[in-house]
Amino acid sequence: MKIIKLEEVEKLSEMEINEYFQTPVVIPTETVYGLAARIDNEDALKGIYKIKGRPSDNPLIVHIGSIEMLMDWIEGDIPLEHQILIDKFWPGPLSLLFKPKKHISKIVLGNNMENVVIRMPKSEKLRNLINRLNVPLAAPSANKSGSPSPTRIEHVISDLADDVNLFIDGGECTEGLESTIFGIINNDKMLLRPGSITVEQLNESLNDEIRLNFKANKKVEIICPGQKYKHYSPRNPLYLFVGMNWEVNMAIMKTKHKNKRIGLLNQSDMNLNKDEYIIYELGECVRDCAKNLFDGIITLDSQCDIIFVRQFAEKDVGMAIMDRLKKAASEIIE
Ligand code: TXA
Ligand code: MG
Repeated sequence: MKIIKLEEVEKLSEMEINEYFQTPVVIPTETVYGLAARIDNEDALKGIYKIKGRPSDNPLIVHIGSIEMLMDWIEGDIPLEHQILIDKFWPGPLSLLFKPKKHISKIVLGNNMENVVIRMPKSEKLRNLINRLNVPLAAPSANKSGSPSPTRIEHVISDLADDVNLFIDGGECTEGLESTIFGIINNDKMLLRPGSITVEQLNESLNDEIRLNFKANKKVEIICPGQKYKHYSPRNPLYLFVGMNWEVNMAIMKTKHKNKRIGLLNQSDMNLNKDEYIIYELGECVRDCAKNLFDGIITLDSQCDIIFVRQFAEKDVGMAIMDRLKKAASEIIE
């Protein structure tokens, strides 16, 4: 097992890079760490599913290094709406649904998908690496299926040290939540997963109101198979407190579990007695809270028996935070 800094990747020779990418490699992105394989190497792609314990019908997001590379893997032209979003948000944390070219491996597409989801990561160094490989990288988040996504290299190493040969360390992820996923299906514009590029930003860019089509939202038609599965769950129970009575409900639950170590994902406006909890400060603004969310869950999970968190307003990036929290929660208390 080897850990190298993203800055040092450019010093690796072509031969070394190609050698490493015969099996899955951990890569840093602006959203979360990914477990990556070349999309033309089916053994490495199968390795991703095996290492993660990922259901084989759950397809992988494809990461490209350039628009030329995109055109090699999609059928036809870039749809107008996609072009508008690409101009505005790429490179960055927005994944888009495209029609795939026939030669793309079925393993990337979860064996039966009609679409491929593609994004161009923000980091120029990562894009350079992809361009040197001259083929896109498929990369789901680098956690075991069902666990919180990793936003620091330490999270990944503690989870996957025995399974992966190369870990590329890019420091802390700047966004901290997985990419927003947008697609058009039967002329219907849909948000398939909320992320740090918000529905408000998409609506404004497209001058339209797109449909919210993700599970934590309501009953939806499943387009991303990942929505069916358990997600983001810490080993210990996580209680999500929603509604006006959150403070009273937290006090009740704290009394009920008085012999347990209770961790609190604290928001700066909460004003609770901090001596009574093991505190993780999420940050001052909602963007900081998004960036720190998974680190907070993973950190408290290793220090406490139960994790408490209060709701966020479901707008802007708060919508993505609540999507993750609702899926992570063992109980939602109102
Ligand atoms: O920010 C991200 O997108 C991160 C980093 C590593 O880039 N990746 C990531 O991948 O979050 P993953 O596998 O954890 O989540 C991918 C989601 C899943 O819900 C999956 O079902 C959906 O995207 N997805 C991928 N390809 C798809 C496809 N062809 N059609 C429909 N949904 C797809
Ligand atoms: Mg994931």
